[in-house]
Amino acid sequence: MIKVWIAGSNGQIGRALNDILDPLEIEVLNTDLDDLDITNTEEVLNFGIVNRPDVIINCCGVTDTDLCEKEPEHAYRVNALGARNLSIVARKNGAKIVQLSTDDVFDGQSKKPYTEFDDTNPLTVYGASKRAGENYVKEFTHKHFIIRSNWVYGKGGNNFVNRVLEVAEQGKTLSVAGDQFGSPTSAKDLARMILYLISTNEYGTYHVTCSGVCNRYEFAQEILRLSGKNVELKAVPTEQSDLSSVRPPYAVLDNFILRIIDMYDMPDWKESLEEYMKERTEN
Ligand SMILES: NC(=O)c1ccc[n+]([C@@H]2O[C@H](COP(=O)([O-])OP(=O)(O)OC[C@H]3O[C@@H](n4cnc5c(N)ncnc54)[C@H](OP(=O)(O)O)[C@@H]3O)[C@@H](O)[C@H]2O)c1
Repeated sequence: MIKVWIAGSNGQIGRALNDILDPLEIEVLNTDLDDLDITNTEEVLNFGIVNRPDVIINCCGVTDTDLCEKEPEHAYRVNALGARNLSIVARKNGAKIVQLSTDDVFDGQSKKPYTEFDDTNPLTVYGASKRAGENYVKEFTHKHFIIRSNWVYGKGGNNFVNRVLEVAEQGKTLSVAGDQFGSPTSAKDLARMILYLISTNEYGTYHVTCSGVCNRYEFAQEILRLSGKNVELKAVPTEQSDLSSVRPPYAVLDNFILRIIDMYDMPDWKESLEEYMKERTEN
């Protein structure tokens, strides 16, 4: 049985990992901000010494992009130095580490999907602090998996799907960005992929999103269709949108490495969304 430390276990990806992992195969150590602040170097190192995880999955993060702009020191402390602290533990224990990262490391100005070999150029504090986290992980460990994803939604998260459904509940007209492109990715499908990856020794950086591309307007349209809600929806430029802050306009990641080594296929974004919406109504 392997011991896996999920740091940030109350977040949407942390929860999704807990929902699908097999407790007969994996002993889980769950921590979140209330139990262990990953910016506290001494406490993180002590936790590693006492618990000796085989794998660390860093699901922690300051993910509110507006907050990152307002409080850049906080963003760098968690997204960069927190990742460094977990990497030090991984190196000391010879453990594997998974670092969750984002398309925001790119500037979103491209006209074609970004591969793992494209140069990064973050334009936001969130993106820059996440890139700094990636760099620390690369610097401190060899046994790392850096996973960049985008437009992730899952249980309990303050994500686009839940925001669309909340506004729809109020019966208001929804104005949604028609000029932001990405690949909606369910936390559950991302979690499935992470659990597969940690069973391998295929270290490195990966782009992992559901397949297919849409804009925010099309994403909202599909959410409303699946929910059966009849709400007026308008496609507008980002600045006039009710639901999206300014983000890289072209946030499309190509799962290039997964494809060329023929390792893992991510499902289509519409199928994943359907699974999520079904589970949401059942619970
Ligand atoms: N959501 C996306 O679209 C997306 C896309 C690509 C990559 N990612 C990355 O994937 C990771 C997880 O994303 P998510 O969507 O699951 O995020 P999330 O729902 O915001 O969860 C992040 C968790 O980290 C915790 N946390 C914050 N600061 C911490 C600290 N100093 N020490 C310990 N825990 C701390 C948060 O606690 P509080 O809630 O109490 O603050 C929260 O439970 C993040 O690193 C994010 O950058 C997300």
